[in-house]
Amino acid sequence: MERTLFIIKPDAVQRGLIGEIITRLERRGLRLVAMKMIRMSEELARRHYAIHEGKPFFEPLVAYITSAPVVVMVWEGPKAIEIVRRTMGATNPAEAAPGTIRADYALEIGRNLVHGSDGPQTAVTEINLFFTPEEILSWERDTDRWILE
Ligand code: RTP
Ligand code: MG
Repeated sequence: MERTLFIIKPDAVQRGLIGEIITRLERRGLRLVAMKMIRMSEELARRHYAIHEGKPFFEPLVAYITSAPVVVMVWEGPKAIEIVRRTMGATNPAEAAPGTIRADYALEIGRNLVHGSDGPQTAVTEINLFFTPEEILSWERDTDRWILE
């Protein structure tokens, strides 16, 4: 089992796409183990995107991600990190495969609706940045035996 941090970004919240996006991950079979709506502070945004500090898109990225509330979640499942990234589509929506969230609902890289951790180490770091251990629920889902072999 793997866990990944997932963020519904301000543009998706503003456009009323929270339900649509959660539905895609929920129907895929991934298990939701934590969720909250927050307004990201500038400090949190800079820490979350620290790896991009100094790049030309960094300041606009911080402004974008702090511009309105976001919904932050932890999803769990086998290969959850890769599966969520594939469900999101490529960073640039113009290049995202049809059927992915970014291809179906977005046009530009700076308004690409969602974030997902890109590897096991970043997943752990990002989950700890947004959630305390008590906020993450381990629970048994009755449908698991119909989703997981
Ligand atoms: P994210 O971290 O948000 O899940 O997106 P990602 O892994 O697919 O892409 P990443 O390379 O980590 O970039 C983080 C976010 O920065 C914005 N960006 N803009 N204008 C540009 O060239 C550019 N490059 C990246 C995007 O909002 C991207 O999601
Ligand atoms: Mg990234």
